[in-house]
Amino acid sequence: MSKVTRTPAWQALLQHHKDIAELTMRQMFDDDAMRFEKFSLQLDGIFLDYSKNRITTQTMQLLMQLAQQAALPAHTAAMFKGEKINHTEQRAALHTALRNRSNQPVLFEGRDVMPAVHSVLARMRSFSDAVRNGTHLGFTGKAITDIINIGIGGSDLGPLMVCQALKPYGRDELRAHFVSNVDASHLVEILKKVDASSTLFVISSKTFTTQETLTNAHSARAWLVAQLGDEAAVAQHFVAVSTNLAATAQFGIAAQNVFEFWDWVGGRYSLWSAIGLPIALYLGMDQFEQLLAGGHAMDEHFRHAPLEKNMPVILAMLGVWYGNFFGDTSSGLFPYDFYLNRFAAFLQQLDMESNGKSIDRDGKPVDYDTGMVVWGESGSNGQHAFYQLIHQGTRMIPADFLVALRSHNPLGDHHAILLANCFAQSAALMLGKTKHEARAELNAQGLHGEALEKLLPHKVFQGNNPSNTLLFEQLNPHTLGMLIALYEHKVFVQSVIWNINPFDQWGVELGKQLAHKILPEIQHLPDELKHDASTNGLIAYYHQHKSR
Ligand code: F6P
Repeated sequence: MSKVTRTPAWQALLQHHKDIAELTMRQMFDDDAMRFEKFSLQLDGIFLDYSKNRITTQTMQLLMQLAQQAALPAHTAAMFKGEKINHTEQRAALHTALRNRSNQPVLFEGRDVMPAVHSVLARMRSFSDAVRNGTHLGFTGKAITDIINIGIGGSDLGPLMVCQALKPYGRDELRAHFVSNVDASHLVEILKKVDASSTLFVISSKTFTTQETLTNAHSARAWLVAQLGDEAAVAQHFVAVSTNLAATAQFGIAAQNVFEFWDWVGGRYSLWSAIGLPIALYLGMDQFEQLLAGGHAMDEHFRHAPLEKNMPVILAMLGVWYGNFFGDTSSGLFPYDFYLNRFAAFLQQLDMESNGKSIDRDGKPVDYDTGMVVWGESGSNGQHAFYQLIHQGTRMIPADFLVALRSHNPLGDHHAILLANCFAQSAALMLGKTKHEARAELNAQGLHGEALEKLLPHKVFQGNNPSNTLLFEQLNPHTLGMLIALYEHKVFVQSVIWNINPFDQWGVELGKQLAHKILPEIQHLPDELKHDASTNGLIAYYHQHKSR
């Protein structure tokens, strides 16, 4: 038995799960008029309703005991103190320093990192101001109208999600585009939309070795030089964001055009660093700093609020409850906000790359489940696509609903309809529809006898599907910063419970190694292929058929 499953709280939760497995939320709401008040929390304009969960007061107490017994407070302190908690890479995870708005120093290896953080922020401000106010011009003297970020994973998803989420704070005359896929179609389709003389490329890569990003960057560079007819144009049209200054120099980007960050910032936690440059360019540095302030506000809450009143801890422990005790394998994220269209994609990397681990911090295989599959889509679209499975499928899928109280586009009844749909879904998932209710409904529709009995089972909804609802005033940079940090810390808390390192990602390496081996074989068929029969067959099939 592992350390985690041996804890008294884990053992008590196993028994508690048996005790309450049959309880319905419907019943629990009927029995307790204060349930909503009891299981909800408000923080700086964000309201969390977690009353629609399969929990009692005792469940929450046991979950918080589990967090204590896993030494969560000590692990949290270690992260904020810059200890090398990413032990497999011997790195700290200090993304919180990037959004530290206090005047407190943050020490890493005995030195305060804040002067370096502030200096890069100051450079981001002066560069983004210069681009936005037309001081930094393109090679032919034109103002910049289009920014193209070239990056992938954490060097793409965060800035892309934020730029999309905060579109109302952007301006029409400056557009942000994101190229991530090595499929040339991605780059080509974006280049079709822009004029080289007014386009700025931001090459974003923590390592500056990522094949997809470098391939796209080289092609973009070649396109720009061909369009403007002069190699010298690159200096005005290319900047880089990286921790690898040797590699950016080798690519040909002058030092003054490189924005630095540090290896204590994980890729999927990097939007707060210079990786956020496209955000600053698109929205302005003031808005970017509001985003940082939101992240910092959530950090302060996470560090100092008691566990039972701590939003990231509550969300995390509910996830543990469903993943480890109910055996759920996936969780849904449904923002009822068009601008949060890419939030689920961002969260997928954050959560699944962090907690998709099966070896614990002591190097032993875990004997319990870790990260869940995270998926989602903005509402109300999902309702007309996949919600059926949540309502009447065989699996329980805990869900988070996110919705703003005020829309950026108050048009007719749109927002009221959106809210009504959001609230209706969480209610329907919780309540379901009993046989008795379904029968009464069919009766009222004039159906009786055999016809009714035949249809009846299909009209029953099992309900009792848990969800959280997060309400916020309006999607602004501060709120978004809080929401992102909320989920970052949720993921961290779960990693602590599961005793895994959420800050490495060795699992992505094998595919990269194999791709490097296969690439030359795609370019020229060797005399002998030495892979498994399927891979050999696919490569050979490609060569036989490519010319047709
Ligand atoms: O391969 C996975 C990964 O390393 C992610 O963790 C990272 O966000 C992404 O690739 C991009 O890496 P980089 O910023 O170094 O190009």
